[in-house]
Amino acid sequence: MSSTEDIIGRSDVNDLEEILAITNTDVDATIHTVQDNADAIFTWDYQKGARPALEKLYEKAKTSQWNGETDLDWSIEVDQEAVVAANALANNRGEVDFGGTVLGSWDEDTWTRFAIESQNWMLSQFMHGEQGALICTAKIVETVPWIDAKYYAATQVMDEARHVEVFAKYLNDKLSGAYPVNAHLKMLLDDIVLDSRWDMTYLGMQIMVEGLALAAFGFMHQMTTEPLLKQLLRYVMSDEARHVAFGVLSLKEYYAELTKAELRDRQEFAFEAAVRMRDRFMQQEVWERMGVPVMDAIQVVNERVPDQKIFQQMLFAKIVPNCRKLGLLDAGDAWLRDRFTEIGVIDFEHMPDTGEEYEMFALAEGEVASA
Ligand SMILES: [Fe+2]
Ligand SMILES: [Fe+2]
Repeated sequence: MSSTEDIIGRSDVNDLEEILAITNTDVDATIHTVQDNADAIFTWDYQKGARPALEKLYEKAKTSQWNGETDLDWSIEVDQEAVVAANALANNRGEVDFGGTVLGSWDEDTWTRFAIESQNWMLSQFMHGEQGALICTAKIVETVPWIDAKYYAATQVMDEARHVEVFAKYLNDKLSGAYPVNAHLKMLLDDIVLDSRWDMTYLGMQIMVEGLALAAFGFMHQMTTEPLLKQLLRYVMSDEARHVAFGVLSLKEYYAELTKAELRDRQEFAFEAAVRMRDRFMQQEVWERMGVPVMDAIQVVNERVPDQKIFQQMLFAKIVPNCRKLGLLDAGDAWLRDRFTEIGVIDFEHMPDTGEEYEMFALAEGEVASA
């Protein structure tokens, strides 16, 4: 069993100074190499449908493909300033008093610039996360021992290529500058790829990263008034819901056979991932670019903007019920339940899990132009 320090590199999960000390020092590199420590597994058991839930998901994926170039209306002009102004209004940000803080001197223009940077940052991190998913899913094709899972994972590889493609295009054509990968996200993606155990790829990617993405995309989809981004997120979410279901359905079977000690490893990994993702949403690079003392700014926002905390917690709305469904919350001495309580997200445990939810997210007949 590991200590908090062994798992996340610091003993206090909320130590802001230590969190901000982690930065991306590799911002100019074009290539990043990670050891993929896993065996490629062939199976000679080709019996399709041995796992009916995965087969159903695979058949569903085959008929749910869309084309990022032609199904989205890229002719829509995006006025980013107007978009962030509408978001700020919806967020009631204008009503917060920052007097006497490092943000006290910011005028309307500075807040607009911040909101634009923040949107560039947010969509950049989603793009990088999507590439993480592309790589992880290709790895799952190699490492998972079940033919139904290999088939399904192959469709997810295509989905993720499309997601990277549309986020990159949106950032490039419609927004105003991409950010390098956030250091906390990068650490997490590296750790997922480095792990040799096939189920850890699923746990890190399908359950944690994609679980968070599904919640965040849902929130952004609801919030934004920009029709192209709304449509893009709608399409991506219909795929993401299947991906999270793939994780839940695969791991549910596998985790039923694991020992307490093996489950504890998975609990620790889930906790590490949760902390990394929470840390990344402090968007330290944006505050840095705005030229304010980063730690002060983050503290001020956390204290004075109630929506901020709600948003950060809401990101766990899919992860916690899915961990519960997998038996990870209460395995052993309920170690993960205690950790999720500590970081303030345990209240989501009874929300619907994502094993079947993909049906609800599916695109309706006629919603996809090219289908
Ligand atoms: Fe994706
Ligand atoms: Fe995905």
